[in-house]
Amino acid sequence: MCGIVGYTGKREAGRVLIEGLKKLEYRGYDSAGVALQENGQLIVTKAAGSVADLEKALNDQFKEVRVGVGHTRWATHGPPTDLNAHPHSSVSGKIVVVHNGIIENHRSLRRRLTEEAGYRFNSETDSEVLAHLIEYYYQDDLLEAVQRAVADVEGSYALVAACSEEPDLLVCARQDSPLIIGLGDGENFVASDIPALLAHTRKTCIMEDGEFASITPDKVIFYDADSLPVEKEVLQITWNQEAAEKGGYDHFMLKEIMEQPAAVRETLRQRVDVSSGLVELQELDLTPEQILNLDKIYIIACGTAYHAGLVGKLAIEKLAGIPVEVDVASEFRYRTPVFAENQLAVVISQSGETADTLAGLRMARARGLKVLAITNVVGSSVSREADQVLYTWAGPEIAVASTKAYVTQLVALYLVAIYLAQIRGTLEAAKAAELVKGLLGMPDQLKQVLSEESVAAIQAYCDYLVKWDHAFFIGRNLDYPVAMEGALKLKEISYIHAEACAAGELKHGPLALIEKGVPVIALVTQEAILDKTLSNIQVVNARGGAVFAITREDFKDVSRQVDSVFNLPRVNDVLAPILSVVSTQLIAYYTAVGRGSSVDKPRNLAKSVTVE
Ligand code: F6R
Repeated sequence: MCGIVGYTGKREAGRVLIEGLKKLEYRGYDSAGVALQENGQLIVTKAAGSVADLEKALNDQFKEVRVGVGHTRWATHGPPTDLNAHPHSSVSGKIVVVHNGIIENHRSLRRRLTEEAGYRFNSETDSEVLAHLIEYYYQDDLLEAVQRAVADVEGSYALVAACSEEPDLLVCARQDSPLIIGLGDGENFVASDIPALLAHTRKTCIMEDGEFASITPDKVIFYDADSLPVEKEVLQITWNQEAAEKGGYDHFMLKEIMEQPAAVRETLRQRVDVSSGLVELQELDLTPEQILNLDKIYIIACGTAYHAGLVGKLAIEKLAGIPVEVDVASEFRYRTPVFAENQLAVVISQSGETADTLAGLRMARARGLKVLAITNVVGSSVSREADQVLYTWAGPEIAVASTKAYVTQLVALYLVAIYLAQIRGTLEAAKAAELVKGLLGMPDQLKQVLSEESVAAIQAYCDYLVKWDHAFFIGRNLDYPVAMEGALKLKEISYIHAEACAAGELKHGPLALIEKGVPVIALVTQEAILDKTLSNIQVVNARGGAVFAITREDFKDVSRQVDSVFNLPRVNDVLAPILSVVSTQLIAYYTAVGRGSSVDKPRNLAKSVTVE
């Protein structure tokens, strides 16, 4: 999520780090910092804002320094401030660390280090604990201290540590967060992403989970999880800068679609107890009594986030038995909802800056409702103004069309639904545990939906769709909001007119538009109403419509009744939207590519809509 650069060699380290951080800046980070090894001291400079602000703060000092680490932060724990920016220093200043990822047990480690060693913490971040923990174990060997420290850590990390007593050395460790070593001649590099390395070297080694590396100007040694040295393959990078920023994909949108398994895993992290099968939402600041008394929830959002809200409504009503109203924020603010006691408002916004959503939030608060925000951006207006925030940890989303943020919004809403249900006693423990297990299995199921074979099947369908100017998406129950999201995504980036229709509503009007060959994408994932959806499909077939069904692999009947199918893995009805929507994202993407549209920046649209 954040950006890491490290250097040890013969050049001016500060310059190499600033240049590298600038190459990562396209993702929109919110603060940055470097630590430079100077005369037995690690000098840390940080700045909230852009890398240019950091460059100004550095002011071309430390020109003789040859070793250092740098970081650009995208806030997760604590707002973007100088203090929360990386690198973080240990108590004595002997150790510095830059870190990407999330330390799940940072609270207990913090407590332990404060109580046992009397350490004091300066920031609100989970990452700071790493610097202190490494110092705690340090006995003249940085590699060993890092190895012992990460053995105590639960969570994900790409980290680079430096120690003032071993001035040439950088030590790296990786678990669930990328880290790449760049090999030079008398100099070596480390970075979280390839773009930061390209100006200096194309010879790289990709670190694997559980591995460590010690880097000096002349040598890089890799170690496996058992601390035994390992040989690594050297990869020659052939991408240009632009391709590297997109991780080798043609567009940010595709990169972000492919990042969804990891984004879902991050959003679930720390929020479910695997052993008990319970959801634990520390962020939700409602007493059990308040939850038991909840009479109504308003969900307020725009566009894609609104579609997530519609899925949330169905899940909350089904699992927790609380009535939910979902509003497009621009409508909510001008209607007169009947506010009363015991109501909660939930606002959903990837950016946290959408003007209409903010206005809805303010209106709800002004009328005395508690507001829970679901957002992807720490420190955003929505997160500052809401009473409580549930962050989606999708990482920065660059493509205008939202994909990974949407899927993580779904995950957050499912967590809320299950949590409310647990407390209200509306869901049997075994059913709750089954859903939690289903959520935990989503990253792997998403990988299946994103496999080469699946993508090829979608591409083959898009060869058909690309020639049409109109398309329909149909579905019932939880498939309906997914149909709406699929239609929005298709029109947004391919400029094909796409309409979503509740499958049962076709006969009340839209059916008049179905004629021979008209593309109809049918979402068929709800086992409880499978027959109903299939009979709606028959009606389309009878008019010559060409039905492409997105369904479950175990719904064998579906393929016999449609022109073509895309099979999803077997999944619980409630959770199916997480998988099915990804196939609609791929449809939109490959159709847009086929039509030569500007995928990442569609015409007339902006990533963050801060005007009414
Ligand atoms: C569509 C899309 C938009 C946003 C909407 C709300 O792909 O991204 O519909 O969902 O503009 O934006 P946020 O979530 O930032 O409030």
